[in-house]
Amino acid sequence: MFTSKSEQQTKDIANDFAKTLKGGEVIELVGDLGTGKTVFVRGIAQAFGSDARVKSPTFTIMNEYPVKAQQVKKVIHIDLYRFNDASQLSALELDEVMTADSVVCIEWPDIFGQSPFHPTHRIKIDHVDEETREIEIESLS
Ligand SMILES: Nc1ncnc2c1ncn2[C@@H]1O[C@H](COP(=O)(O)OP(=O)(O)OP(=O)(O)O)[C@@H](O)[C@H]1O
Ligand SMILES: [Mg+2]
Repeated sequence: MFTSKSEQQTKDIANDFAKTLKGGEVIELVGDLGTGKTVFVRGIAQAFGSDARVKSPTFTIMNEYPVKAQQVKKVIHIDLYRFNDASQLSALELDEVMTADSVVCIEWPDIFGQSPFHPTHRIKIDHVDEETREIEIESLS
């Protein structure tokens, strides 16, 4: 369990976590609105050398960020919050995007009930106060 006192600290925690990743991971991020799930994904992408600004994929559901790490070639960011058609989940062609050289990050994975994904990690972020967050990193594999 980590305690973060700022957005930057959350990014730093994500950065350290990203150093343990080798590609092929599927990371679920759970926590209330505005807890810092997107900030965490941004920290992961930056750890792999992405200079693109990670934004919530509001209209697209899925954004893909090319990164410059040795084994990891892309960070895929999925946000199901505004995805209102569970029957379209298969249209994401998750099997195709989840390759051995990608790290997939999924916000709101269980918005339709049970998560249809097979995560390797789960990040839980709790809002403590305005700037304080508790971050739990669970390895499932
Ligand atoms: N310790 C902290 N860690 C992360 N973000 C923080 C922290 N303290 C304050 N913040 C602020 O909280 C907000 C987190 O926003 P972010 O978009 O990452 O949340 P989110 O969990 O992705 O929400 P949503 O479910 O709406 O996508 C940002 O405005 C950020 O500056
Ligand atoms: Mg978000």
